[in-house]
Amino acid sequence: MQQAIAILDSGVGGLTVAKEVMRQLPQEKIIYFGDTARTPYGPRSPLEVIQFTHQIVDYLLQFQPKMIVIACNTATAVALDEIRARLSIPVVGVIHPGARAAIKTTRNGMIGVIGTEGTIKSSAYELALRQISPHIQVVSQSCPQLVPLVEKGLFRTNETQLVVEQTLRNLTDVPMDCLILGCTHYPFLTEAISTVMGPNVTLISSADETAREISTILYHKGMLATSNSIPVHQFFCSGDPYMFKKIAQSWLNEETRVTPVVWQVP
Ligand code: SIN
Repeated sequence: MQQAIAILDSGVGGLTVAKEVMRQLPQEKIIYFGDTARTPYGPRSPLEVIQFTHQIVDYLLQFQPKMIVIACNTATAVALDEIRARLSIPVVGVIHPGARAAIKTTRNGMIGVIGTEGTIKSSAYELALRQISPHIQVVSQSCPQLVPLVEKGLFRTNETQLVVEQTLRNLTDVPMDCLILGCTHYPFLTEAISTVMGPNVTLISSADETAREISTILYHKGMLATSNSIPVHQFFCSGDPYMFKKIAQSWLNEETRVTPVVWQVP
């Protein structure tokens, strides 16, 4: 049996990473878990997010994946180190790849970061950016209203455009040349965010760079899939499978089989 790459998120956001993994590594099988019953993670305490992440990792380990990808910025910010310390397989997060992509892109050294309350409070992006380039200027803002819109599938509605405009208004005067979408849900709102920020601000999604990191790690460890057959991906979610499936199918452009998982929410 081909060992899969397990990807987890608080909901549908990690599908932005899964899509890029499918594009860059078409032979790799993906097992995806979206914790849609308990989304959003952003307003939750770090302790709770750490607990949920351990639970989901435990669930995914039954499939004996060769790698775990925490495709949720909020969970990466607080749980990545613990999960890495616990497992013997590689564990990849989304914050360092996003920071690297922004550093590669910026010309004027001023980078914006938007994310959930949890991610912004953790200062994980500032730390990651300054670790690479100490003099970089960073302006951060939390956007608590965006994840619920994405989980409802409202990507291009007037309501969404209005909320995005109100949320990002303060950032439009800042002379940044790139903006990190520091939540894997935000690439679903690229059009709306781009309309507000204008053509001089490049939007950075960590999906590309995370998939590249996955590819590099698997290559160096001799763990890339060798089979030529087309992999059958599996999707699990803890909440309503109907909405998850609808969003997954339109985002991934493929028939998606979703298995609902019932959680005892603590
Ligand atoms: C959330 O559940 O609040 C968003 C997930 C993320 O931070 O990427």
